[in-house]
Amino acid sequence: MTGAEGFIGSHLVEALVAAGHRVRAMVQYNSFGSYGWLDALPPSVLEATEVVLGDVRDPGSVDGLVAGAEVVYHLAALIAIPYSYQAPRSYVETNVVGTLNVLEAVRRHGTPRLVHTSTSETYGTARTVPIDEEHPVHAQSPYAASKAGADRLAESYHASFGTPVVTLRPFNTFGPRQSMRAVIPSVIGQLAAGRRVITLGDLRPTRDFTYVADTAAAFLAVGTAAADAVVGGVFNAGTGREISVADLVAVVGKVMDADVEVRRDPRRVRPAGSEVMRLVCDASRLRAVTGWAPRHSLEDGLAGTVAFFRDPAGLARYKTHLYNV
Ligand SMILES: NC(=O)c1ccc[n+]([C@@H]2O[C@H](COP(=O)([O-])OP(=O)(O)OC[C@H]3O[C@@H](n4cnc5c(N)ncnc54)[C@H](O)[C@@H]3O)[C@@H](O)[C@H]2O)c1
Repeated sequence: MTGAEGFIGSHLVEALVAAGHRVRAMVQYNSFGSYGWLDALPPSVLEATEVVLGDVRDPGSVDGLVAGAEVVYHLAALIAIPYSYQAPRSYVETNVVGTLNVLEAVRRHGTPRLVHTSTSETYGTARTVPIDEEHPVHAQSPYAASKAGADRLAESYHASFGTPVVTLRPFNTFGPRQSMRAVIPSVIGQLAAGRRVITLGDLRPTRDFTYVADTAAAFLAVGTAAADAVVGGVFNAGTGREISVADLVAVVGKVMDADVEVRRDPRRVRPAGSEVMRLVCDASRLRAVTGWAPRHSLEDGLAGTVAFFRDPAGLARYKTHLYNV
């Protein structure tokens, strides 16, 4: 797996180990000896996990990761939209060239299955709702463009070389260990740090939020389904429930029993043409082929996320006073 030390990746490692798999986990090389969120997992999970330090931009380290694997889950990416305005080339290098390196390694080793990670951001503001996989792709940020580019490479490798790739396209995911740059942890983190006046960007956009355990289950579903049912396909994963950021803040306030006042922070507002105003998922294809369905409501998932951020050990890992891009 690539991106194993990240938010979704660390939950997927846990889910794979719980299902009896052994995991070889790429952690992006760093000089701090940090395994990211893998450091927070119980020893029993780490015992079934082989950590490999590397970088998806480097073909050699990807090759070593992929050799001998039965399924490769490719999650590594730069994912923050605001930072993609500042450093777009790094998004192309990590998300596009990194994916190319994974595709090449999978091709070379004859790996039986690659699960490539896309994102609902590739659709841009919904033209029709709910969004199914036939909805046009419209990249409104350098991040979305780099992910769409990676998706096209994956599609082309399947068409050109028969590479057994499945593309999972999660809609917004939330839960414990998510970065504070995302809206739910940003709201919860600011409230858990004791604030009642919180700062956010645009409150109008709507999203479809999936709890991370359900997203991890979607990865497992496409990673383990019969090849003829999924290989070469694109699968949306989301709940079908649409909620605006304003209404989301109210629900979080209720779950946390807090009166919340929101102030608009202009630094958090995306340029008008880049803001994706509406995302809501049609996951019928994934459901029909694998039986996947979300098991957590928004309120259940928020309760689990709030518990994580209220735990001082969880909150201590964040800089709640900063705006994280
Ligand atoms: N979080 C969401 O709501 C969401 C929604 C749709 C799709 N996704 C996709 O899911 C995947 C995981 O996202 P996440 O939310 O867990 O984000 P994350 O930032 O927590 O995880 C990404 C991981 O990729 C690693 N990485 C970055 N550059 C790397 C490099 N050069 N080499 C090796 N590793 C590198 C990071 O260290 C990080 O652990 C991404 O592909 C993202 O585009 C996320």
